[in-house]
Amino acid sequence: MKIEKKEEGFDKRLSEMGIRIKDANTFKVSENVFDEVTLLALYKLVHKKWLSALGGSISTGKEANVFLADRGDGVVAIKIYRIQSANFTTMSSYIQGDRRFTNVKKSRKELVFAWTKKEFSNLARAKEAGLPVPEPLVFDRNILIMSFLGEDERPYPQLRNVELDDAETVYTSVTGMIDTLYKKAELVHGDLSEFNILYHDQPYLIDMGQSVTRDHPRALQFLMRDIRNMNRFFKKKGCEVKTEYEIFNAVTGLTVSQP
Ligand SMILES: Nc1ncnc2c1ncn2[C@@H]1O[C@H](COP(=O)(O)OP(=O)(O)OP(=O)(O)O)[C@@H](O)[C@H]1O
Ligand SMILES: [Mg+2]
Repeated sequence: MKIEKKEEGFDKRLSEMGIRIKDANTFKVSENVFDEVTLLALYKLVHKKWLSALGGSISTGKEANVFLADRGDGVVAIKIYRIQSANFTTMSSYIQGDRRFTNVKKSRKELVFAWTKKEFSNLARAKEAGLPVPEPLVFDRNILIMSFLGEDERPYPQLRNVELDDAETVYTSVTGMIDTLYKKAELVHGDLSEFNILYHDQPYLIDMGQSVTRDHPRALQFLMRDIRNMNRFFKKKGCEVKTEYEIFNAVTGLTVSQP
């Protein structure tokens, strides 16, 4: 009863702001996500015509919710970082050391806004380098709008849920992406796994909030972890994988040998 009342109020506020919610499920998760700051950002985006209605919830992650959204001319994906559940310490460690974000104030809110901006700019750099990533369209505060990777309003599956006919080719393609990301976009993904790769005829990299520039003090450590994750996954799929050092050296131009 209490919840219903709250949702009614919330519903009213949204419709007063001209924000339409199309999907009942979106409502269920709405309370945790849509605080004042988020509502204001949404309001701005709706009025700037970046979206016309919120569609179904695609994912509720550790730090963000992803929804489908209408944009008049088609659908987009909208990622909303939850300010309250942001992991302050982890986020700080990825932001500090990135020369693009030296002036970030230390409040939780400011950190989440910087994080959102960081994901936008990382996706833009990756896109510019020719990599298959969602195209970042706009960001405002804790909200990022990007192109939707999917078909008929269904997102492409995560790599972990795909039956691969030719895992070797996908492995080559993913290690190639790590290489291009490093050499051309000058970035390390930092959370590469079968969860953060979508697959439809080819792999797509997603979730780049934590990605760092090559000069981040922990860039090489993150790179090695990304390579390890991919080797572990593809080995399990029966692929003959290169050693992590071989890949690491080819990507970085360094000569590191197995200790
Ligand atoms: N552009 C997109 N198009 C289609 N689906 C997407 C898109 N972006 C994200 N998704 C879906 O939402 C899921 C979660 O997205 P993402 O990995 O970016 O966030 P997250 O893991 O929740 O982030 P965090 O770990 O920071 O909380 C993805 O696995 C994917 O299924
Ligand atoms: Mg993810």
